[in-house]
Amino acid sequence: MLNDSIQYHNGALYCDSVPVSEIAAHAGTPVYIYSLRRALDNLRRLQSAFAALRPHIHYSAKANANLAVLRALVRAGAGMDAVSGGEIYRALHAGAAPENIVFAGVGKTPDELRYALEQDVGWFNVENVGELRLLNDLAASMGRTAQIALRLNPDVAASTHRHIATGHGGAKFGLSIGAARDLLAHQSDYPCIRFSAIHLHIGSQLHDTQATRSAVKLALEVIAPYPDLRTVNIGGGLPVAYTPDDPIPNWEDFAAALTPLLKDYTVLLEPGRSIIADAGLLVVSVLYVKQQAGQTFVITDGSMTELLRPALYEAYHEIVPVKSPPVPGARSLLEVASDRIHIVGPVCETTDVLGRDRHLPGVQPGDQLAILTAGAYGLVMANNYNQRPRPPEVVVHEDGQTWHIARRRETWADLAQFEV
Ligand code: LLP
Repeated sequence: MLNDSIQYHNGALYCDSVPVSEIAAHAGTPVYIYSLRRALDNLRRLQSAFAALRPHIHYSAKANANLAVLRALVRAGAGMDAVSGGEIYRALHAGAAPENIVFAGVGKTPDELRYALEQDVGWFNVENVGELRLLNDLAASMGRTAQIALRLNPDVAASTHRHIATGHGGAKFGLSIGAARDLLAHQSDYPCIRFSAIHLHIGSQLHDTQATRSAVKLALEVIAPYPDLRTVNIGGGLPVAYTPDDPIPNWEDFAAALTPLLKDYTVLLEPGRSIIADAGLLVVSVLYVKQQAGQTFVITDGSMTELLRPALYEAYHEIVPVKSPPVPGARSLLEVASDRIHIVGPVCETTDVLGRDRHLPGVQPGDQLAILTAGAYGLVMANNYNQRPRPPEVVVHEDGQTWHIARRRETWADLAQFEV
């Protein structure tokens, strides 16, 4: 979706004050472009929505781990949420202070836990008893104490796509209420662990506030008997509008639903999508336009290998021309076009469709298209299927005018380099 940073001016799409076509001319397509200004603005908007709780914000690096993005957020005061040794390494590389890093994840390996302990990472979000034992033993052998949050699986159904819901009982995530209570009752069995918080994350792109509220209430009941536990990490999940009429609550609605419950607690947040999704776009070029069986296929140089979300979750991303905006008064891009234009990629998979049934009048080979709201879970989920090199990432700096290629395009030689 268009926003303050991704806008048309005089018939051309801009990222802040830079024409998208200028970047595409230098960097080629497909290319990811991120507005650091928008990302930092999102961080500030989130801080102000949750002002009453003064949360510690740990940006969820899994959403977009580009070092330039991480660095900008760290400089603006964000901590990091990392889910692997690789993400901890990157967060440290981007300048995050170890004490401001949360290490989360369902299956942390012994090497990752050891690395996180060596680096003095601030928090471990623990998800099972075996992990807790291992962490305790490793910490003991290294003469350290690990500060932890127990990740609760509250058995609450989140209103979101089933593939990104995590808080229901049948999900692999977290500890059941019974298991969490049991661990808290046996804290003394883990002498090298400091039990400091409860953590939950019931899903991403949450469409209602009530499920989160119920989950937080349950979490507060679990820690109620332990006066030392007055910190709650409420995870990420804050939604982003992918279309102008996306029926999502505001971040303020989430804050309003949670503030009465959490006002006497220290609160941690792990936002990913809400910080970076609408700061990013993927620009592709049209290769061919083909009519077949009453449908129009617009074949681009971008595909599911650059942006997996439509293929994986049937996710909807608006697709707009880089030159000349949609005709004023024309039907919304969301409406199903009678001529059924599908924007597809070159990959040998039927599901390689970036957008179905779109209204993109007059699109021709050589045109560039921008896939919007692609800054989160875009490049990080890109892959090399069909031996397709991953695209470059460009960041437009906070001044809105200057930009650089923050990650170069991979080459065919890059793809062969790990084989012996
Ligand atoms: N904290 C935890 C424990 C998480 O599992 C996640 C995301 C976050 C925070 C950040 O959530 P966010 O604020 O971004 O909603 N690939 C999917 C989304 C997967 C989310 C995984 N966990 C997508 O493209 O929609």
